[in-house]
Amino acid sequence: MVEPASRRVRAQYDGLATAYDRRWHTYIARSTAETLARLPPGPDGAVLDVGAGTGLLLDQLQRQRPAARLVGADLSLGMLGVARERLPDDVSMVAADAVSLPFDTASFDIVVSSSSLHYWDDPAAGLRELARVLRPGGHIVVTDWCHDYLACRLLDRVLRVTDRAHRRTLGTAQLRRHLFEAGCVPVSVDRYRITWSWGMMTAVARRSA
Ligand SMILES: C[S@@+](CC[C@H](N)C(=O)[O-])C[C@H]1O[C@@H](n2cnc3c(N)ncnc32)[C@H](O)[C@@H]1O
Repeated sequence: MVEPASRRVRAQYDGLATAYDRRWHTYIARSTAETLARLPPGPDGAVLDVGAGTGLLLDQLQRQRPAARLVGADLSLGMLGVARERLPDDVSMVAADAVSLPFDTASFDIVVSSSSLHYWDDPAAGLRELARVLRPGGHIVVTDWCHDYLACRLLDRVLRVTDRAHRRTLGTAQLRRHLFEAGCVPVSVDRYRITWSWGMMTAVARRSA
């Protein structure tokens, strides 16, 4: 029997949760800064972070937009536990899979996801689900490793063999197409390096009316 990817991700991140912030400090700081810099400006509304991990992005967002209603979703109870300790009580943290979010249709103004997409079994279905919970005219902001870079393609190959949670990296064209097919109009799809070798991308897309 094939073990579902969600169970492998959960097991991996439950084990990593207490060490995650320390081990990935520089990577998280840079990728989070790139993601937050691309969030559309206010007005403060409802913001959902999918694959929110230990809540570092939400923590910064809470300081930048204190009036916003912030919600995080993640598969890993361990990561959610660390986020819960970090964040104030009015930030909700929910155990959920990106492909099946326990939220009403059109209930968020911004849906963000950073460094989670490469774990999703079905990225197209996940992005459709992010678009479902987004109000028409709202924005999706997705950051992940970028397959356009050679180093990322090599890492993807290695991780497919060595990391049981890893699924695949996407390139900018695929991410743009998935967002379009999810009913969103891409506003920008940027690629950039956060170290000399580590290539990332951030897509911003607006949900069609
Ligand atoms: C590399 S961490 C990134 C955490 C955080 N966004 C950050 O930038 O530090 C990936 C996170 O995505 C979560 N994740 C992976 N697949 C998921 C899915 N299908 N649905 C929800 N969360 C998922 C993992 O549990 C993990 O917490």
